[in-house]
Amino acid sequence: MDSARWWRDAVIYEVYVRSFADDTGDGTGDLPGVTQRLPYLRDLGVDAIWLTPFYRSPMIDGGYDVTDHRDVDPLFGTLADFDAMRSRAHELGLRVIVDLVPNHSSAEHPWFREALAAPPGSPARERYVFRPGQGPNHELPPNDWESVFGGGAWVRVPDGDWYLHLFDASQPDFNWQHPEVQAEFESILRYWLDRGVDGFRVDVAHGLVKAEGLPDVGRPDQMQERSRAVLPYWDQDGIHEIYRSWRAILDSYPGDRMAVAEAWVSPPERLSRYVAADEMHQAFNFDFLTAPWSAEAYREVIDACLTASEKAGATTTWVLSNHDVRRHTTRLGSLARARAATLMMLALPGSAYLYQGEELGLPEVLDLPDGLRQDPEFIRSGGEMLGRDGCRIPLPWSGTAPPFGFTTAPAAWLPAPPAWELLTVEAQEADPTSTLSFYRRALALRRDRAGGALAWHDAPPDVLHFTGRGGLRCVVNLGHTPVPLPQGYPDPLLSSAPLVGGTLSPDTAAWF
Ligand code: NOJ
Repeated sequence: MDSARWWRDAVIYEVYVRSFADDTGDGTGDLPGVTQRLPYLRDLGVDAIWLTPFYRSPMIDGGYDVTDHRDVDPLFGTLADFDAMRSRAHELGLRVIVDLVPNHSSAEHPWFREALAAPPGSPARERYVFRPGQGPNHELPPNDWESVFGGGAWVRVPDGDWYLHLFDASQPDFNWQHPEVQAEFESILRYWLDRGVDGFRVDVAHGLVKAEGLPDVGRPDQMQERSRAVLPYWDQDGIHEIYRSWRAILDSYPGDRMAVAEAWVSPPERLSRYVAADEMHQAFNFDFLTAPWSAEAYREVIDACLTASEKAGATTTWVLSNHDVRRHTTRLGSLARARAATLMMLALPGSAYLYQGEELGLPEVLDLPDGLRQDPEFIRSGGEMLGRDGCRIPLPWSGTAPPFGFTTAPAAWLPAPPAWELLTVEAQEADPTSTLSFYRRALALRRDRAGGALAWHDAPPDVLHFTGRGGLRCVVNLGHTPVPLPQGYPDPLLSSAPLVGGTLSPDTAAWF
């Protein structure tokens, strides 16, 4: 646990707390559930865990609607449960990263309640973004901004004022020009650093500062431009001042604390500004996650990301799945591709983020009944966007029927498909060819091979061949026909599927 700048090479496992493991038997995952299963994560071979929000919350957006950033929601346990989890994780050699949600609060947050109770123009409203509407009776929203979850980004309150919410209406955006908002988050950072966390995952890190005067976007389909640095509510230059002040706080603590930005910002040069030497340490690499299954596309993205982060003096990160996107088994089209992509990712220099359940090869659950869906994205878009519930199904741990050992309650908060009987941890532990065994082997091999730069080698079209971290040679076949293995290669260290007669099948990767 004492290696300097540990995050540069780390494999960090995302624990979506409410779907990881339920200890209290109410059908929802909790912190004691995480503590109990920490040995599983140590045995998997990850270096750190990132926990999604477990703070007090009405849970309208799965906890990304916080009412008290300094307390644990009773749904997830208590502060003592957090301390026990953190201390057990450290005993097992696992670092702990917590989520920080600075762009917005819950509408139930005491500050927002105070703001609603106060008249328009009063100081209590200045911690959020309240504005008068347009039109003769101010009946039109202040501008044309859209919510990420669909529909307009403004709500009119009974006294006629409007407030901004880039996400759900229950998540009002903070006004980051306000010194009290700045001071509050600095204090929250210190609070969790004092409690021994190793770092923060910063939610919507590209959204805190809005363009001066809140100008109209002026065109439809704003959300399709979400990952380009062109909208007046994303990636504004003023944002970096905030992260510089946070970095000073992180650096003032002993023991290598870090921050990782969730910033849907592109191109990589823009993203690399978040990981400047005096800002955050890492940013999620969503260009890699969104790349299509194509050798050309991956090579381009990998090169661009490595160049940009090297320039910024940071190591890049790689990620294929998280609690906001379709699981990569489904997104890439098959488990074979998902395993090959994982092997490619784990051979790249830098650090990798895994999402709970990908080590079991879980697919996205697409056929959840509408009545069970809870994601505000589904609800606000009237079902037009299916939402993210399908990647948040509680983990199948053991047994032959749902809820598969996740909870002792008769049912979990979302049901797992009966077919997951074959995908439980218990079933896969017993099978050396399972995806779980494959992840364990890959992580063990990777652990011994740190550092190193990337070098590409000649390869047929649709094939990627590179030397990556610690001298690992990786070959990936993204085409439709088997390809011969590069000459002179002995047996692979590991492959994502069996190698047949000296060839690499389509949708397969191997390490040498
Ligand atoms: C990103 C989080 O990952 C997502 O789950 C959440 O809905 C939004 N930010 C809003 O906080």
